[in-house]
Amino acid sequence: TRSYAITLLPGDGIGPEVISVAKNVLLLAGAIEGIEFNFHEMPVGGAALDLTGVPLPGETLSAAQQSDAVLLGAIGGYKWDNNEKHLKPETGLLQLREGLKVFANLRPATVLPQLVDASTLKKEVAEGVDLMVVRELTGGIYFGKPRGFSTNQNGEEIGLNTEVYSISEIDRIARVAFETARKRRGKLCSVDKANVLEASMLWRKRVMAIALEYPDVELTHMYVDNAAMQLVRNPKQFDTIVTNNIFGDILSDEASMITGSIGMLPSASLGEKGPGLFEPIHGSAPDIAGQDKANPLATVLSAAMLLKYGLGEADAAERIEAAVLHTLDRGFRTGDIYSDGNKLVGCKEMGEEVLKAVDLNVAAT
Ligand code: NAD
Ligand code: IPM
Ligand code: MN
Repeated sequence: TRSYAITLLPGDGIGPEVISVAKNVLLLAGAIEGIEFNFHEMPVGGAALDLTGVPLPGETLSAAQQSDAVLLGAIGGYKWDNNEKHLKPETGLLQLREGLKVFANLRPATVLPQLVDASTLKKEVAEGVDLMVVRELTGGIYFGKPRGFSTNQNGEEIGLNTEVYSISEIDRIARVAFETARKRRGKLCSVDKANVLEASMLWRKRVMAIALEYPDVELTHMYVDNAAMQLVRNPKQFDTIVTNNIFGDILSDEASMITGSIGMLPSASLGEKGPGLFEPIHGSAPDIAGQDKANPLATVLSAAMLLKYGLGEADAAERIEAAVLHTLDRGFRTGDIYSDGNKLVGCKEMGEEVLKAVDLNVAAT
């Protein structure tokens, strides 16, 4: 048997609910495939603040760095919203991404045939959408300096952030994007604001330079405002999208809704080496936390990405994906993806049905 150390970071809000489901699914799919997991659960975000006074304790980061892969639920909540910046749950998440050097965030948005009705877009627009947002994750305005609060010449208080990208940061995310596009349908759309922003002008120039290494990939460029519009006008025009940290954050939430719900979208964050970080793209959903209403599938699918991209265990990953599809085929839906005629279930029951489907699919093969 292969054995892996997995750091589990449940975090806040619905984080613990969805992580508990994903953990059980990993255990069962792993057992079937002869994989053993050693889970280490560590605090992050608001949970870590309450426990230790900081949003990313040193022990959590070093456990994550020493493991084979990291699975995170979500962080954040009303309770900590007015904390100083260095004591915000969100700061802990950014420190974790920086500490793991996971600069490439893959966010696939796929409209499953079972969920076409859950999309707010017309059936003919949503049907068949299969795109991948490659989001730069450790640079740009999230990390750029100077930043902070100060006063301007008029003595007025200002908040300051800086969008900054270096050539090496752009080149490495561009290469990940071209490699990703090459394994998909060979189309890459780079999204920027090169008509206005210097960081985007350099972005576009370097993406064009790296394109010379990938003559088999068709490269196009689009301004981000147009991209936001095109995503709801005709999302099927996109295969792979590469973009900076903040545009990727926004466009992936938008893309998630094409698929029916943000509760469906997983992600993988990868660096040059070391463990990957796997998390749903949604947040801690404080409005439904603790009510057993959360859709755990984004986290279950993130666990599948962990197996595939983090551990190279593609068979186990496919087992989980097949079980999710089977569960949807059988009509089980959490509230966010519910439509008439389906069976409304909570987070726990959805998890139990996925586990049954993992078992059933074994019987079928
Ligand atoms: P959110 O993604 O938490 O929620 C937005 C809406 O989507 C809410 O109505 C929520 O109920 C719903 N939703 C989200 N995930 C769902 C799921 N799995 N199943 C069903 N419905 C789901 O975004 P927000 O409300 O803007 O932020 C809430 C908190 O989460 C904030 O503190 C924010 O900073 C944090 N956040 C964390 C992450 C992360 O941990 N990676 C990501 C985004 C936001
Ligand atoms: C996400 C979140 C985070 C981000 C926040 C919570 C720091 O929105 O993972 O998409 O902006 O990256
Ligand atoms: Mn986000």
